[in-house]
Amino acid sequence: MELGCSRGLMAAHLIPYTKELYASDISPSAVKACKQTCDELASQHDCAMHYYVTTTPGLPFAEYSFEVVTLCDGLVGWWFS
Ligand SMILES: C[S@@+](CC[C@H](N)C(=O)[O-])C[C@H]1O[C@@H](n2cnc3c(N)ncnc32)[C@H](O)[C@@H]1O
Repeated sequence: MELGCSRGLMAAHLIPYTKELYASDISPSAVKACKQTCDELASQHDCAMHYYVTTTPGLPFAEYSFEVVTLCDGLVGWWFS
């Protein structure tokens, strides 16, 4: 799971190392751009992509849903309520 995926620069780096990757961001346009960055690469590596527009905190996933969670270049600029 990559939190705050933006355009998917980090997500694209993760794709070769996993068979399933979740990418989430608070911004619908960021998630759309992430999809454009990642979908073709993911199909080349047989990696199933899942995209979510959602806030952190407030993720709609149970605890321990993911083996690895990354947050790359995020917190300082994040919009918390
Ligand atoms: C600097 S970008 C992250 C870059 C990204 N990790 C990459 O590799 O391309 C920060 C992102 O965090 C998102 N963001 C800000 N506040 C957030 C929040 N509360 N929950 C989820 N995403 C958030 C922004 O929409 C933005 O796309």
